[in-house]
Amino acid sequence: MANVKLEGVTKRVGNRLLVDNFTVNIRSGELVALFGPPGSGKTMVLRLIAGLDTVTSGRIYIDDQLVNNLSPARRGVGMVFQSFALYPTYTVFDNLAFPLRKKRLAQSEIKTRVEKIADILGISHLLEKKPAYLSGGEKQRVAIGRAIIKEPKVLLMDEPLTNLDAKLRILVRTELRRIQQELGITTIVSTPDDQEALSIADKIAVMRQGKLIQYDDASSIYQKPSHIFVAQNIGTPQINIVRAKILVEGKNPILDLNFAKIKLSVDIAKIGQYAGKEILVGLRPSEIMVGKVSVGDQPIRAKVEFVELLGAETIVTLSVAGENLTAVVPPETPLEVGDEAYLTLDEATIHVFDPDSGESII
Ligand SMILES: Nc1ncnc2c1ncn2[C@@H]1O[C@H](COP(=O)(O)OP(=O)(O)O)[C@@H](O)[C@H]1O
Ligand SMILES: [Mg+2]
Repeated sequence: MANVKLEGVTKRVGNRLLVDNFTVNIRSGELVALFGPPGSGKTMVLRLIAGLDTVTSGRIYIDDQLVNNLSPARRGVGMVFQSFALYPTYTVFDNLAFPLRKKRLAQSEIKTRVEKIADILGISHLLEKKPAYLSGGEKQRVAIGRAIIKEPKVLLMDEPLTNLDAKLRILVRTELRRIQQELGITTIVSTPDDQEALSIADKIAVMRQGKLIQYDDASSIYQKPSHIFVAQNIGTPQINIVRAKILVEGKNPILDLNFAKIKLSVDIAKIGQYAGKEILVGLRPSEIMVGKVSVGDQPIRAKVEFVELLGAETIVTLSVAGENLTAVVPPETPLEVGDEAYLTLDEATIHVFDPDSGESII
């Protein structure tokens, strides 16, 4: 167990900035997801922590020790790559034993440790098989086993679930979380999948173009995105973004959406500079209430354009004053294409962003 600290970590190759002044503080035993679209620098951050690449500037600490100049082997880090990279001619036992044999441990010690890890990972029955005879999920467990058998202080996993099919991915991610908690090992997992990040991580680091945009616990990342990029990339279905204006009448700021005016209970000092200006508003599909009858004193009238039944929930596309909004409703909501419907928004769940910087305003 160890904490991991990155301070102003920067990686430049030629004139390209691959990682830009990246700072995070990961506590011992935490599972952190590095989340971002392809090309955002996730793999590079993992490689820098592992020591497979060197930083251009900044400092990396593992267990409060500066590791910038330590070789990968001396950093106490285990890494699982996207491709699993098992030795095809070795059995599962030998794949797991390999890192221990390199350390020249005694046969009996190797056997005990391989069996213990295989037990934790639920692969004891596969020890005599070769990788070609394993399913994707089984190979993945062997790859994890090989990374943790040396008892590293930190486990790094580069998109460990991306090569699994959709159903298996959900099963294995639950397993991965269980194993991580059982071992209590500080773990950093990269993923381009927001649902994966939300479901397994204590904290999520959202990256864009080598920069850290937000670092927070999973529920804050979802509920309080600090930037429109976070709002648009975390949450399925995607958040609705609509244009609006801030009006100030007396003491109360009002959000003037095309289809509704909503009183905001925020301090005027916080939002006064936006008076009369256009801003961007984010409305999460799950936070738009939709019914067949109007409720409240300000019903928002909409037309149902499209209904998608998913079983546990229904996704509806609504047109409201010329804008399309997506909403998620309970499956028993009796909505059909062409119906008239009424929307209710809850001020507490509305996100407002500066249109130029993308930063969250309230
Ligand atoms: N060794 C390298 N030299 C130059 N550019 C690189 C190198 N490694 C990665 N890149 C570039 O850096 C960017 C970030 O890559 P990467 O860390 O692989 O992103 P991710 O894992 O988020 O998809 C990409 O644009 C990639 O092409
Ligand atoms: Mg990558």
